[in-house]
Amino acid sequence: MLNLGKLHFGGDYNPEQWPREVWKQDIELMQRAGVNLVSLGIFSWAKIERKDGEYHFDWLDEAIELLHQGGIAIDMATATASPPAWLTKAHPDVLPINFDGVRLSHGGRQQYSPASKVYQQKAAALVEQIAKRYGNNPAIEMWHVNNEYGCHSPYCYSEQSRQAFIEWLQKKYASIEELNAAWGTDFWSQRYYDWDELVVPKRTPDGTHPNPGQQMDFKRYSSDAHLELFKMERDIIRKYDQKRPITTNFMSMKFTYAMDYFKWAKEMDFVSTDHYLAQHDPLNHIDLAQQADLTRGFADGKQWLLMEHSTSAVNWQPRNYAKTPGQEFRNSASFVARGSQGSMYFQWRQSQAGSERFHSALVPHAGSDTRVFREVSELGAWLKSNPDVANYPTDQANVAIVYDYEQFWALMQANLPTQDINYAETVAKWYRAMWENGTRVDFVPADASLETLSKYELVLMPLVHMLSEQEERVFHDYVAQGGNLVVSYFTNTADRTLRVKLGGYGGKLVKELAGVYVEEFYPLREGQGALSNGYKIELWSELTRNLSADVIAKFVESDVDGSPALTVKSHGSSKVWYQGTELKLGSQRKFFKSITKELGIESEGGESTEVVRRGPYKFEIDHEKNKVKLRNN
Ligand code: GAL
Repeated sequence: MLNLGKLHFGGDYNPEQWPREVWKQDIELMQRAGVNLVSLGIFSWAKIERKDGEYHFDWLDEAIELLHQGGIAIDMATATASPPAWLTKAHPDVLPINFDGVRLSHGGRQQYSPASKVYQQKAAALVEQIAKRYGNNPAIEMWHVNNEYGCHSPYCYSEQSRQAFIEWLQKKYASIEELNAAWGTDFWSQRYYDWDELVVPKRTPDGTHPNPGQQMDFKRYSSDAHLELFKMERDIIRKYDQKRPITTNFMSMKFTYAMDYFKWAKEMDFVSTDHYLAQHDPLNHIDLAQQADLTRGFADGKQWLLMEHSTSAVNWQPRNYAKTPGQEFRNSASFVARGSQGSMYFQWRQSQAGSERFHSALVPHAGSDTRVFREVSELGAWLKSNPDVANYPTDQANVAIVYDYEQFWALMQANLPTQDINYAETVAKWYRAMWENGTRVDFVPADASLETLSKYELVLMPLVHMLSEQEERVFHDYVAQGGNLVVSYFTNTADRTLRVKLGGYGGKLVKELAGVYVEEFYPLREGQGALSNGYKIELWSELTRNLSADVIAKFVESDVDGSPALTVKSHGSSKVWYQGTELKLGSQRKFFKSITKELGIESEGGESTEVVRRGPYKFEIDHEKNKVKLRNN
């Protein structure tokens, strides 16, 4: 994974929306603001290829030249994110089909099925043209493939998708028998005798849902299908440019789940991501920190790049609150502290037309004599004056949270013990408890190697519902080698096919490592919610037997009063804590505080201040006082 060398500042640049006079002004303003990189051409397909095979690069050549003359580097896009109208008119099967069997229309963006052969061919032809033309162009610093894969139409249920899904399944399972076993198809007469009987998991009769294993595999297939598109474009670019790094912008956001970014990151030269705040939430800086830390996890601890965020309001929330003075500086500082090689935005100049005309930009409708432009220029100058920061990755934390998109997918399914399980919220709450305690955490995937886990004193496992035997073994080895774990309820309940592990929920991880035998789940009823030590709980209780753990607290306001709720078991110098419930935030903070204290894990900052280091650089960001300090120790 590359570290990109310098701190970047700029954003998506869409000159095709403006007349030539504005372009010149853009370059001057970019220079004034300190912009050193723009992402060019992301949505330019229709402007480049005006008819099938008829390419117009004159305008793009001119824009590239202007930027280059102005000393502004280019993150060159492949323009494949929004197929033109002539294409979908001539080949309607480029358009995706949704869960209800409805073909989605042209007119928005990302209106393509990843399984569409025509889309694949036309996108490949376009990338070939762009890469051939600009592969040696000195103005280009990096490549930006497509845009936010899976953002608007991650799943397509067309016949072409069914065929592609079957091919994917044939690679995964040696025989139809193996697939039947994995999906448990003797349930409800779902057995398949021939590959061609298989379907994509579309809507089924009311009150029923497609087979759980089938749903999981379809989500895996869909993430892989988009990843194949990325790889196709990447490989075409590589033919013409062997030097410059290639990325695509992820969406590390709380409720974004469709693409398995840990898997994707392995295919990229460096990780980049987009992040937008829930601006109504006064604590959104904690979500920002979480998503930045998660992105660093995808990047395996290395530097990454924040490719998009907003200078002020977005246009797609119910109420689009503007950022408060100083907020954007603080936000960017936090991203940089957590490993971003700069601060990039959507977009350079606020659109005059189109559905994003009320989305903020570096240059607002009101022009450059504005709060937003002044503040971003201040940030540009700050980044420029601290170039050495780029040379250091964010310091590794002592605590890691296990994060896994497949858990997200599994826990979104219906027919669980309670519909209130919410993977994203639980992970966010655990993160927030640590953040407010001033304890930094990293994120690791559920299939992390022993070597990765061993870097951490403490590993947290919130709702790691599925684990393969091999993955389970790694956690055992981690504890055997001196690691400490916190395991939540509903963890390791199933294997990766969603088949339940029998004989006490949680398999060996809970029975042997945590020393607890879980018999039955009892979602909490209204009004229930306390433990014997005074901790407040929500959502979940369970009937457990203590096999060999020390009981920290029992359920007292539940259907299972007296049952162990919080336990700890020692294995030599290692400890495994088990939470058979969902602690409320304040209680989770206390619980984590007691653990980190016991393990001697240091904390710094907390409450409303974050303290993060990149080598000799110490970032101190006070979100209440709206202050950013950067020191070089
Ligand atoms: C992103 C997208 C941008 C822009 C932005 C608005 O998801 O990549 O093109 O639409 O959202 O917030």
